[in-house]
Amino acid sequence: MDRYAVIGNPVAHSKSPEIHAEFARSTGEDIEYGRLLASLDGFAVAVERFRAGGGKGANVTLPFKEDAFRLATALSNRARGAQAVNTLRFDRDRIFGDNTDGAGLVRDIRHNRGVALAGKRVLLLGAGGAARGVIAPLLAEHPASLVVANRTPGTARALAVLFGRGVEANTYAELAGARFAVVVNATSASLAGNLPPLPECVFAPGALAYEMVYGMGETPVLAFARTQGAGVLADGLGMLIERRRSPFSSGA
Ligand code: ATR
Repeated sequence: MDRYAVIGNPVAHSKSPEIHAEFARSTGEDIEYGRLLASLDGFAVAVERFRAGGGKGANVTLPFKEDAFRLATALSNRARGAQAVNTLRFDRDRIFGDNTDGAGLVRDIRHNRGVALAGKRVLLLGAGGAARGVIAPLLAEHPASLVVANRTPGTARALAVLFGRGVEANTYAELAGARFAVVVNATSASLAGNLPPLPECVFAPGALAYEMVYGMGETPVLAFARTQGAGVLADGLGMLIERRRSPFSSGA
């Protein structure tokens, strides 16, 4: 039986084991898929231990997507572009890293929420590993603009440099007066029950508010979005399911 796991901190909330078990059942694969809690400075050790114990691959959740990028010895183009990895596959002595977050997000927005991104003003909150993974696929949909807002301004600016002219970096304060048709929360604020310091009126009437975490009910960002006139509220469960349909992830 092939062994897989999702590695994160926290990880107890992850629905990856159930979702992967469901897909494995539907394709007749015999897999074991668990949750692995790594200490904040113990990601590489946790991966090595899992691999040594026969693990075939792993999904990586926050806050380890950038650690996973550094640990991988071979990368897909999209993981290299994002400098973040959410899927590791162990092939003998090679650790192959991919990033399926963006493909899952875009597919969920387009197919399940029925929202086209082309020509829209899109706001991405956060500039960590989760945000990095979705920028290129969002840009590929040709939004009118993509603004990345982050609490630590330098990290958002670094992303704007990495991804080029399609991305504009803002502080939260600089968002005042701007309106967006799509707002994606890629921060980890929701896990601690916090709301990023969004000014009022950033949601255009009827906007899509997308929370990348899932299973937490109405998070502060979604609650705020609702009171601000957003028309579609979504959490990241659909993204997780769509991600599983991406070409690479058959193994993890
Ligand atoms: P991940 O892999 O999920 O991106 P991460 O790399 O730890 O995890 O990044 C977390 C992101 O959430 C960062 O953009 C962080 O902002 P900073 O770069 O300023 O730390 C953001 N974040 C976490 N808590 C937040 C909060 N309460 N308000 C706003 N942003 C927050």
